[in-house]
Amino acid sequence: MQTEEMMYQHAKEWAYEAGVILREAITQEIDIEYKTSAADLVTEKDKEIERFFASKIKTYYPTHYLLGEEGVEKSGDYQPEHEVVWVVDPIDGTTNFVHTKANFSVSVAIYIEGKPTVGVIYDPVKDEMFHVLAGRGLYIDQKPAAPVVEKKSIEESLFCVNHLWLAPNDDLNEKKLQQLVGDSRGFRCIGSAALELAYVATGRIDGALYNGLGAWDFGAAYVMLQEQGLTCTTLAGAPVYYFDHSSILVASQTLHQKLLNQYIDVK
Ligand code: IPD
Ligand code: CA
Ligand code: CA
Repeated sequence: MQTEEMMYQHAKEWAYEAGVILREAITQEIDIEYKTSAADLVTEKDKEIERFFASKIKTYYPTHYLLGEEGVEKSGDYQPEHEVVWVVDPIDGTTNFVHTKANFSVSVAIYIEGKPTVGVIYDPVKDEMFHVLAGRGLYIDQKPAAPVVEKKSIEESLFCVNHLWLAPNDDLNEKKLQQLVGDSRGFRCIGSAALELAYVATGRIDGALYNGLGAWDFGAAYVMLQEQGLTCTTLAGAPVYYFDHSSILVASQTLHQKLLNQYIDVK
């Protein structure tokens, strides 16, 4: 019988194995290709790790689907709401993997018939794993994560925001966001959306916003954020559809409302 518990254990085990491969890879020379531009990188390891997940899933769960960033598995047409879907980002933060060799992660989620069920985000350099089976609590390695303390004041809050949105752009009103720079305790951009969102889920960061993430970037973190009772919507305040690209705005309820009302203006 394929239980949720079994899938959860496998997701953790495989994310860890993938992380070991990546930890070794940063000591070696890595083959890099440009995807759409010099700022959009992919390495041989992104594809290798996604193939590793594809092969494991095919062996243990042949009826399940894989939604991965590199698209190594061509699944044909299927309705994700009616299937078991593994949502995998083999390396989240490829630019960091190539340049700084830290702050990247392996992100694995399992959605069962549209229900966010398992989330695993593994940082192989810190050897730190965030993991959740919905309803059973979020963990950092073996330790239950503390509940997120609801912060109400922007002044005392730290946010993850990509600097791109502070410069003139076609999507967000940069002037409003610039006000948030001054009003808040500060901004951080770690460079792995999955890790940044795991930090929000564990209270290290108080909120985050993104204009266009892939389902694989936020899939695992979404399960964690839900488990911790954080409010996660699109930048327009609408529910997130987690099988496609989406904007993301997450924080505890009061902060989320303040961000939405005072600082986010989608053009
Ligand atoms: C990227 C990282 C980055 C975020 C980008 C993502 P990748 O993922 O998560 O932090 O700002 O939007 O595409 O390409 O390294 O897997
Ligand atoms: Ca990613
Ligand atoms: Ca990636």
